[in-house]
Amino acid sequence: MLDRAPLPRQRRLWLDCLIATRMRDLTVELQSPEDPVDRQALIEGMLSHHAETYGDPHFEPFGLFLRDERGESQGGLAGRIRWGWLYVEILWVRKELRGQGHGSDLLERAEARARSQGCVAVHLETGGSLALPFYQKRGYEVVGVTEGFPPGSRQHFMRKWLSGQEPSDRVERPWTPVDAEVGRAAISYSNGNLPVEAFLELARRVWARDYDERAAAAALARTMNISAWEGPRLVGSVRILSDGYFFATVPEILVDPDYQGRGIGRELMRVALTVAPRGKLFFGAQPQSEEFFRRIGAVSGPVGMVIDATGLR
Ligand SMILES: CC(C)(COP(=O)(O)OP(=O)(O)OC[C@H]1O[C@@H](n2cnc3c(N)ncnc32)[C@H](O)[C@@H]1OP(=O)(O)O)[C@@H](O)C(=O)NCCC(=O)NCCS
Repeated sequence: MLDRAPLPRQRRLWLDCLIATRMRDLTVELQSPEDPVDRQALIEGMLSHHAETYGDPHFEPFGLFLRDERGESQGGLAGRIRWGWLYVEILWVRKELRGQGHGSDLLERAEARARSQGCVAVHLETGGSLALPFYQKRGYEVVGVTEGFPPGSRQHFMRKWLSGQEPSDRVERPWTPVDAEVGRAAISYSNGNLPVEAFLELARRVWARDYDERAAAAALARTMNISAWEGPRLVGSVRILSDGYFFATVPEILVDPDYQGRGIGRELMRVALTVAPRGKLFFGAQPQSEEFFRRIGAVSGPVGMVIDATGLR
C-alpha cells in the first residue's frame, strides 16, 4: 500500500535534489534529419497519449506507390487512418507523369481504402493554390486557411465527407474499423498490395491448376486488387481491370471455399464498385456464379461473347 503521509522536510529536500540530479542527466540531442527509430518512439509515445485521451485510434498507416516497369517509384500517396478519418499526408506524382489521371487514381484508391475501413471523412493540407482546384473538383472543401505559409501564399486545410455529407451521428458514434464489426469478425478488406503467392494459393483452392507465378505477378500488377483477409490468410479477392475512365471489368472474383456464403463476395464487390470509374463494372458471369451476381444486384447487360484466335475465320 502507498504511504501518502507528508514527507519530513529533510527527506523532501533530498528527494528534490535527486529529481534535479536526474533531470540534469537528461540531454537534448539535435538530429537533422532525425533517426527513424527515435522518430518512431515519439510517434508511439504520442499514440499512447492519444489512446488514453480519445480512445484507440486504430492507427493504420499505409502507402500507395506508383511504379514503372522497372519497379521504380514515380509517385504515391502516404495516408494514415485514425478514429475513422483518413489523413492524406503526402500525394505526389512525378512532373512528367502529371495530367494523366495518376493523382486522382491514387486519391480514389486511398478513399476506397478509407471507406472499406468504415471511415467517415478524409482530411489533408495543401500549400499554395496550385493543387486547390484538383481537390475541390474531387469533393474536398476548404475548412481552414493559414495565411503567409508558404511565404507569400497560404496553407489550405481541406476535408471531404466520404458519404457526400456529414453523418448526423458522427460525434456520438464511437468508431471501430469494419473488420471489428459484428458479423464480419476478423475479416479485413484491403485494396493495397496483394502478394502473388497468397493469390495463387487462393486460386488453387478455388480452381486447382498450374499457374505461372511470374505471369500471375505481372497480371496482378496491371489490375486493382481488392482482397479479404482473416489475419494473415487471404480468403477472397476481386480484381478490377480498368482504363480509368470509360470502362472497368472484373477478370475474376474468388472466395475461399471454406469462407463462401459469409458475405465476403458481396463485400468485395461493394469495395470494387468504389474504385470503378462512375461506380460501374461490366463483366461476364460463369453459369455457376450467375445467381451470386444477381443476388447482389447485378442485372443482365449486353450479351457477352468471346473469340479465340484459333477460331478466327
Ligand atoms: C461466386 C463467389 C465469389 C461468391 O462469394 P461468396 O462470398 O460465397 O458470396 P456471398 O456470401 O457474398 O453471397 C451473396 C449472396 O449470393 C448468394 N450466392 C453466393 N454464391 C452463390 C451461388 N453459387 N449460387 C447461388 N447463390 C449464391 C448467397 O447465398 C448470398 O445470397 P443472400 O444475400 O440472398 O443471402 C464464390 O462462391 C466463389 O469464389 N466461387 C468460385 C469462383 C467463381 O465462380 N467466381 C466467379 C466467376 S469469376
